[in-house]
Amino acid sequence: MNPSPSLAQAVTERVRAVVGAQRVALHEPSFQGNEWAYVKECLDTGWVSSVGSYVDRFERDLAAYTGAAHAVVVSNGTSGLQVALQLAGVMPGDEVVIPVLSFVATANAVRHCGAWPHFADVDGATLGLGVPALADHLDAVLEQRDGVSINRHSGRRVAAIVPMHTFGHPVDMPALMALAARHGIAVVEDAAESLGSFIDGRHTGTYGVCGMLSFNGNKIVTTGGGGALITNDAQLARRAKHLTTTAKQPHPWAFFHDEVAYNYRMPNLNAALGCAQLEQLPNFLRAKRALTQRYASAFADLPQARLFLERPGTEVNYWLQTLILEPGAAHERDAVLAATNEAGLMTRPVWELLNSLPMYRDCPSMPLPVATDLAGRIVNLPSSPQLVREPA
Ligand SMILES: Cc1ncc(COP(=O)(O)O)c(C=O)c1O
Repeated sequence: MNPSPSLAQAVTERVRAVVGAQRVALHEPSFQGNEWAYVKECLDTGWVSSVGSYVDRFERDLAAYTGAAHAVVVSNGTSGLQVALQLAGVMPGDEVVIPVLSFVATANAVRHCGAWPHFADVDGATLGLGVPALADHLDAVLEQRDGVSINRHSGRRVAAIVPMHTFGHPVDMPALMALAARHGIAVVEDAAESLGSFIDGRHTGTYGVCGMLSFNGNKIVTTGGGGALITNDAQLARRAKHLTTTAKQPHPWAFFHDEVAYNYRMPNLNAALGCAQLEQLPNFLRAKRALTQRYASAFADLPQARLFLERPGTEVNYWLQTLILEPGAAHERDAVLAATNEAGLMTRPVWELLNSLPMYRDCPSMPLPVATDLAGRIVNLPSSPQLVREPA
């Protein structure tokens, strides 16, 4: 006998009660501020591409908002993460520790550097890298050779650790930074999902040597497509700007490029959208927090599922609302997904674990019990800020 035959129906009813009668997407952009005006200005003036005042302004505004000394905007988060890893010293043939529970871009950026992902487990409190278990693993597999941390099984250098702040929930960065320092390994943060998320008042992405933000269309702030690197290291920021803008030496008319580099720059048109969106970020954050409260009360009486909430000391952007089914209800996840989507309420499972994808199947890994268990129990709920008309 099925112990909870109506979980799919119960979830559908509760999501419906929160979002209302309409069909809803998982996350839609909201353009209620100066988006039209700033983009129109680009069109009117012809400054749509490579350079322009909005690019500089967006970089200044991002640095001011996150508290990072520097921001460098790029064409998307994936290219940004690749460059951040290169500037952190990742070389072809190295290994980079990443969470097995992440969007595929985290692993792809590592491979774009010619390095290999080394998969780590997550913890249930953050959905990101679990620091105590990772510490045990690194203590067991790393050995120091000439001051360098080497994976004793593969013989490869472990050059970086990339925490990812899942759905905006921060990893325990102070603990992770201490662990990385103990092994002399650089930390680069995949903060693609966590613009607006803080740990003890400090913005995610500002703990490691460099952090990456994404402004993809589904993110809390969008530029259509785009990303940024944030860092407190002036030299790294300069190198990032140079490498992502074809390594062109500044000159009013001459084209001299001093190394093989990338065309990863963010166009002015996209940066204009970003400036207007960033102005709206406080409203988005308020709306998302109000939505979280509504979901939390709607699901409070359902024992088979709980809304994933921020832990003490953190301020979460609640980019994607996250329902976690209890272990006994895991087998009903697909029924929940089917029922909600059929009802016009877009929900999604979390990503397939990266080590199950064909190109990453043979990568080194630590044991992954938590991610393996959680991956089948996570359901993301409709999360657009405009689902809350009057932010609390
Ligand atoms: C965790 C994570 N990493 C990396 C990315 C890549 O960002 P982009 O799509 O801007 O390349 C995304 C989002 O798309 C993401 O969610």
